[in-house]
Amino acid sequence: MPSIPIPEDAATRRMVVVAVANQKGGVGKTTMAALLAQEAAARGLRAMAIDLDPQGNLTRHLHPAPVRTGVARMLYEKAALESVLCDAGGVSLAAATPDLSAADLALSSKPGRDGLLRRALGPCAHAYDLAVIDTPPGLGCLAFNALVAADFVLIPTAAEKFAFDETAEVVDTVGQVRECANTRLSVLGVVVTRWQGRTIVQQDFDEALRRWAEAKGVPVIGRVRQSVVVQEAQALGAHLPDYKPDSPAAADALAVADAAFRLLGLADGKGASDGAA
Ligand SMILES: Nc1ncnc2c1ncn2[C@@H]1O[C@H](COP(=O)(O)OP(=O)(O)O)[C@@H](O)[C@H]1O
Ligand SMILES: [Mg+2]
Repeated sequence: MPSIPIPEDAATRRMVVVAVANQKGGVGKTTMAALLAQEAAARGLRAMAIDLDPQGNLTRHLHPAPVRTGVARMLYEKAALESVLCDAGGVSLAAATPDLSAADLALSSKPGRDGLLRRALGPCAHAYDLAVIDTPPGLGCLAFNALVAADFVLIPTAAEKFAFDETAEVVDTVGQVRECANTRLSVLGVVVTRWQGRTIVQQDFDEALRRWAEAKGVPVIGRVRQSVVVQEAQALGAHLPDYKPDSPAAADALAVADAAFRLLGLADGKGASDGAA
C-alpha cells in the first residue's frame, strides 16, 4: 500500500532553536537576534525570543515598556518557560530582568545548571517554529545554557581586522559543546555587521573572510551595512524593515533573514520539520 504523506502542520513541526553568539561584545548579536525574531513573526512564524544577556538590550528593543518577569524566574525558580513569556509585538519574549546578572552565582550550586534552558524549551517544541536566543559576551553559565539548548549558532562578526580570532573561537567552542553537551549543535553561519561599503579596507576584509570561511566550511550568510537607521529603529523599538523599508540597511537585513530562514527550513512561512534541521 502506498504511504500517504503526512502534512507538516503545527502539531508535527518542531521548533528550531538558534543562539546568536560571539564572545566579543558590540558585534551585533542583539541587533541580529531582534531582526530574526521580528522578521519571523512578520512572516507568520511562531517566534520566541529569549534574552540571556543581563544588559537586557534585546528586551528593551522588543518590549520598550518595563517587564515584570522573565527568564531569570525560569532559571532560578524552575518556573515553566511559557509562564514567563510576554507578548512583544507578535514575538513571545522571555525577558532579561536585572536579577539575571546574578546567574553565575545563583546557579553555581545547581545540578545540571547548563541544561536548564534546554529542559525548559522542551514543552514548547511544538508551539513555536523558531526560538532565537541572544547571548551575553564571554562564556559564562548563561552563554553555555544557550549553546546547550540550541540547534544552530549564528555568529555576527564586526567587519574589522581582528574579528576572525573571536569568530574562530566561537566555531571552536561550538565543536567542544557538540562533543561534551549537545551533539546536535552546528554553526548556521557568519553575518557581517556594520559593513562599511566598498572601501579598500572593507574589500580586504571581505576577501579574507571569504577565504577563512571556505577553509573552515562556515557559510557567510550575508552582511548588514553600517547605518544610523539601524540604531534609530532600535531606539524606537521598531523592526528595521517597517521603520525604513526603502533603506539599503533594511534590504540587507531582509536578505540576511531570507538566507537564514532558508538554511533553517523556515522559508515561505513554513516551519522546520525534525528532518529539515
Ligand atoms: N548595521 C549597523 N549599523 C549601525 N549600527 C549598528 C549596526 N548593527 C549594530 N549596530 C549598533 O552597534 C552597537 C552594538 O550592537 P549590538 O547588537 O548591541 O551588539 P552586541 O549584542 O554584540 O553587543 C549597538 O549600538 C547597535 O545599535
Ligand atoms: Mg547584546
